[in-house]
Amino acid sequence: MKFLLGLVSLSSVALAQITFNVVGYPSVSNNTFGVSIDGVVTKLVADENTFPVHSGVVPGTTSAVQYSYVELNPAGTVVKTEPFVRKLINETHTRTENEFFERQTTTWELPKLPYTYMATYPSKTQAFKQKQIATIHITAAVAEMQEMNTAPKADKDYRVTFRFINSDTIYTQRNISLQTAGKSSKEHSKQSFKFKFDTDFNQTFFSRPNIKLRSMVQDPTMIREKLYIDVLNSVGIPTQQGAWVRLFVNNKPYGLYLMVDDIKKSFLKQTVHGGDGKIDVGNLVQMNAWELKADLVYKGPNTAQYCDYCYVVQSEGYISPPTNPLQELIAFMKDLQDFDPASTDAIAYWETNRIDLDGFLRSMALEYLLGGFDLHWYSGSNYFMYRNPTLGSISNGGKWQWIPTDMDGSFGSGYPTSTIPTYKTWADFSPAPAGRGDRPLIQKLILQNPQIQAKFDEVLKEIVSTVFKPEAMNPRAEAYHRMLSADAKWDLALVRLSTGINNNFTFADFNNNLKMQTKNMQSGVLPWIANMSSLVAQDLGFTIPAGVADRVIPPPKKGAQGNPEDEENDVPGQDGSTGGKSSAGHVVMGTAMVQVVVVASLALGLLL
Ligand SMILES: *[C@@H]1O[C@H](CO)[C@@H](O)[C@H](O)[C@H]1NC(C)=O
Ligand SMILES: *[C@@H]1O[C@H](CO)[C@@H](O)[C@H](O)[C@H]1NC(C)=O
Ligand SMILES: *[C@@H]1O[C@H](CO)[C@@H](O)[C@H](O)[C@H]1NC(C)=O
Ligand SMILES: *[C@@H]1O[C@H](CO)[C@@H](O)[C@H](O)[C@H]1NC(C)=O
Ligand SMILES: *[C@@H]1O[C@H](CO)[C@@H](O)[C@H](O)[C@H]1NC(C)=O
Ligand SMILES: *[C@@H]1O[C@H](CO)[C@@H](O)[C@H](O)[C@H]1NC(C)=O
Repeated sequence: MKFLLGLVSLSSVALAQITFNVVGYPSVSNNTFGVSIDGVVTKLVADENTFPVHSGVVPGTTSAVQYSYVELNPAGTVVKTEPFVRKLINETHTRTENEFFERQTTTWELPKLPYTYMATYPSKTQAFKQKQIATIHITAAVAEMQEMNTAPKADKDYRVTFRFINSDTIYTQRNISLQTAGKSSKEHSKQSFKFKFDTDFNQTFFSRPNIKLRSMVQDPTMIREKLYIDVLNSVGIPTQQGAWVRLFVNNKPYGLYLMVDDIKKSFLKQTVHGGDGKIDVGNLVQMNAWELKADLVYKGPNTAQYCDYCYVVQSEGYISPPTNPLQELIAFMKDLQDFDPASTDAIAYWETNRIDLDGFLRSMALEYLLGGFDLHWYSGSNYFMYRNPTLGSISNGGKWQWIPTDMDGSFGSGYPTSTIPTYKTWADFSPAPAGRGDRPLIQKLILQNPQIQAKFDEVLKEIVSTVFKPEAMNPRAEAYHRMLSADAKWDLALVRLSTGINNNFTFADFNNNLKMQTKNMQSGVLPWIANMSSLVAQDLGFTIPAGVADRVIPPPKKGAQGNPEDEENDVPGQDGSTGGKSSAGHVVMGTAMVQVVVVASLALGLLL
């Protein structure tokens, strides 16, 4: 066997040579990677700014090259060869994508979901590319990570070096905050995590400084929450975006995660306001349930009268005083208590300076249609309300906007009833423990006011006719299933690092639960869509039309806005946090751009 040392050099890029890039974790320390072309192996090189991406130029190769990556031992002997042959995805390219070892496909085909209502666009970001699985490579003190996994409930903040690798980017930031995330998630042997980039210290992550990695341990298919996000995008609700990632910490595999926005102030700016940094954001309240529910029942004028874990203020806004941070929300609850559902001008009453009624009705339609049993309607939990100052009258503080979160308990995961009823009888709102307790926003508006109920029925009909039907949803769900398959198999075989609940889902469950009921699940994902859409069509007396056309043409994007489907890269500095010219470096190689962005204040210097 013959070996060439790959030379990584910008100036050497010419047409007749290709740069190869493999993302690889050696199976034993000191092993490395290479590329094998017609039996000739070239060693690829990683350094401390690129690991686990190993790169190298092979002189004499052309865009017609066929190749496989190999793992090499320190003597340079091949110990493992990928069992398939790769080709460049585009014959005009002179570099490969960053391709994960033993994963044959890096970028996938993904059928789009049709638009039901006007789109809301977040600012552009390369954090959430839809058609690929990125890799997050964390380095940290080994003892600290051990401590974190042993005591996930301690909520300790650890400082780590964060590296994000997607098909064309290697992005590194030091001194990033890592914590375990969630509430019930911490009871599990596979933890969820959150990363915080401190924008005051010029740390950022593609304009998304607050992200969570969701463990997906309740969902054997691993696609439920992402599908829910996709439907929220279709119906024009500003929502957390998401993309799957593989997580490695100190070279140890942690598993496959769904990376999503953590809903903080930056989310309001980047997603609700489409990247408009000039808006003074309003009041944001996070709702949760445990024994008590975030039921929006009025209990008196003071914050202290409300359950503290049910309503958590995340952004104070500029109206509620610090002494009564829930004041604005309490005023809303008081209006709700005083509201007579027999009123004939209910729509105008709610739409004027109170709530984004369309957004609320669409969110509730999805809770029901997608079977989100631990959200507001059924469980009084897992949502945010945001007083958006750009809606309604500014002098009044704007209107409340509904923002759902934590949507993994859906599509028949954890569904609490044995049959799917009409929405009119879905939840029993009689007092606990027999019933779910009051949910006045559902009861008074959707169930008791005829005008709003008619509007809700129309929303259900439009969503089911456009996006929430097998013809539209199944191709997307099936594409996700194919895309995740190799990584799901890998994830499910990993030894978990915390003690705690392990649902022991298997790769067979991953495969089967797409199309059928499996253990712990009340339905398969695709049968859920089929059952629910046909039930609603029957209930409301309409026929689901064929076709997957957009119901509305999405509006043009403004300013820095992007569509997650389009996978546009953001411009570093658009969030004002990495504005300095010297703070980021871009390296362009061949026809495909590689961005290696290193914060200069960390004095890492530029790669290559
Ligand atoms: C790996 O390389 C280092 C430095 O060359 C050496 O000290 C170490 O013993 C090697 N480890 C193994 C497992 O070969
Ligand atoms: C290949 O890349 C070129 C240049 O980026 C682009 O114009 C072209 O559309 C790509 N072709 C395919 C099939 O993706
Ligand atoms: C790490 O970041 C924090 C702010 O998030 C800062 O207070 C601290 O000084 C930084 N540490 C180092 C070593 O840069
Ligand atoms: C969905 O429909 C199938 C076939 O009609 C049925 O067997 C199943 O019980 C239904 N699932 C639910 C959750 O109602
Ligand atoms: C998963 O398997 C382990 C080992 O057999 C068992 O102790 C545990 O109870 C199982 N978990 C669940 C949720 O059934
Ligand atoms: C952040 O970057 C700005 C602009 O480059 C610079 O003026 C400021 O000192 C930096 N802040 C920190 C904490 O490094």
